[in-house]
Amino acid sequence: MSNIKNDLLLRTLRGEKTERVPVWMMRQAGRYLPEYMVLRGKYGFFERCQTPELAAAITLQPVDIIGVDAAILFSDILVVPQAMGLEVQMIESKGPVLPDPIKTLNDLNRIRVPNVDETLGYVFDAIKLIKQELNGRVPLIGFAGGPWTILCYMVQGKGSKTFDEAKAFCYMQPELAHQLLQMITDTTIAYLKGQVAAGADTVQIFDSWGGLLGPDDFENISLKYIRQIVAALKDDVPVIIFAKGAWHSLESMAAIGAAGLGIDWCITPQMARKFAGDNITLQGNFDPAKLFSPIPVIKKEVKQMLRAFGKGHHIANLGHGILPNVPVDHARAFVDTVKEESAKL
Ligand code: CP3
Repeated sequence: MSNIKNDLLLRTLRGEKTERVPVWMMRQAGRYLPEYMVLRGKYGFFERCQTPELAAAITLQPVDIIGVDAAILFSDILVVPQAMGLEVQMIESKGPVLPDPIKTLNDLNRIRVPNVDETLGYVFDAIKLIKQELNGRVPLIGFAGGPWTILCYMVQGKGSKTFDEAKAFCYMQPELAHQLLQMITDTTIAYLKGQVAAGADTVQIFDSWGGLLGPDDFENISLKYIRQIVAALKDDVPVIIFAKGAWHSLESMAAIGAAGLGIDWCITPQMARKFAGDNITLQGNFDPAKLFSPIPVIKKEVKQMLRAFGKGHHIANLGHGILPNVPVDHARAFVDTVKEESAKL
């Protein structure tokens, strides 16, 4: 029994039949919301992450304003490299910058698998506060980056379309790369277990750059480590894996005990279902840029998406994060259409 009033998301992850499809949006707490922009104007990015009252207020905004069926913790995947001892800056209009990236064994010796209560306790405090303020309205999703995606930033030192330096590091210094991946994995397991102990109802692993690896490398560099994380968490909470672009590995991802798999808009729900099998929940996969379409078009395309996934085993979401300039009423149209139309499936 759950003490959450709207537990559509959790029931869907357990494979139960529900009265309609649950809906939330990746990166739902963010720059398309004027209420977020007010807090963004007053406080720095990591200040917002590190102050439980601010993180809680931002986490609740899309629940209150848009009416999504789940809250996702306001934080960032890059708090993990920070906790491991790397400096991370978030630069306006540029994104993350890590001024001293990992390139050599000496660099690796500068970082550690930290005590997460000491370094990331502020996240656990935020989660406790969020759970209080949610008061059982909807479930809370915790999250972390996939180890490969975290390595991308720790080695490349900034965002990239190709993460070629991170890939070169893996291919030129495989031993070092696997040592780093294991350190990230150990940190992430302790971090996610801490999130669950603090009250997260489910966790999502964001492997945003999984699609940059071919199928064999995805197995060796990414999935091998995600598998350890899922194994460590799955008996406590349902785990969702979102490995953007890694559609070729949906079958192997489904085999490691995750409850849900996120998919982007470059694969049809039918194809994803064929690869992933019938017993797992799929999450996605509306093209985030399509939220710029006129509202009647959004409604039509959402209906099409719902029909393509069919009834059950589906969490409606975008295929990647919501974009900064999306009009709020378009985001709301997406959510409202899922609520109305999925009840008729
Ligand atoms: O989903 C949510 O609303 C929860 C909060 C959340 C943020 N980042 C807040 C954020 C989550 C789940 C993330 C995950 C994240 N962070 C990922 C994986 C998901 C994805 O989109 O692929 C990645 C790759 C990052 C790293 C990161 N953080 C980048 C590349 C950037 C800059 C570009 C961008 O998307 O804004 C950030 C900054 C960031 N993280 C912002 C927010 C709201 C914007 C910062 C601001 O200007 O306020």
